[in-house]
Amino acid sequence: MVEWSSSERSTITSLWAKINVAELGPQTLARVLIVYPWTQRYFGKFGDLSNAAAILGNTKVAEHGKVVLGALDKAVKNLDDIKNSYSKLSKLHSEKLNVDPDNFRLLADCLTIIMATKFGSGFPAEAQAVWQKFLAVVVNALSRQYF
Ligand code: HEM
Repeated sequence: MVEWSSSERSTITSLWAKINVAELGPQTLARVLIVYPWTQRYFGKFGDLSNAAAILGNTKVAEHGKVVLGALDKAVKNLDDIKNSYSKLSKLHSEKLNVDPDNFRLLADCLTIIMATKFGSGFPAEAQAVWQKFLAVVVNALSRQYF
């Protein structure tokens, strides 16, 4: 099981408190779809994803971006049991949506970039290190039902 120090716990909680899901969620998912265009294949129902402007203006992308980022709340609130708290979501992505689990890390990386852009000096390297540890545990938990 992953161990969290009290300073890691407070870094994660305070970064999460600064994240506006309605703003950063859409930006994160749009970035994934633009930077890694093969991820668009999972969102065939979302309409026009033909170029960056279309993706950034796509309301379905924006709505789903909020759902995805909002789902991190579960991990923040269950730091000691992230694996079990994502078992259903992992099963859904694996068995129903057939999402290649490599894409979870790509989404995590895009979120980190969006946070660095948004928070600037409010996201120093030490905080990034803790946040990436947190996202690595999330990615691992989501990938769990694949194996
Ligand atoms: C941190 C990573 C991720 C989290 C926390 C996450 C979370 C979620 C959540 C909460 C849902 C809604 C589940 C429901 O309706 O019960 C969902 C659906 C979905 N996710 Fe993910 N997701 C992640 C990464 C990804 C990635 C990387 C892809 C593909 C590249 C993806 C593709 C999808 C698709 C296609 C759906 C269904 C969308 C729809 O038709 O409404 N997810 N995800």
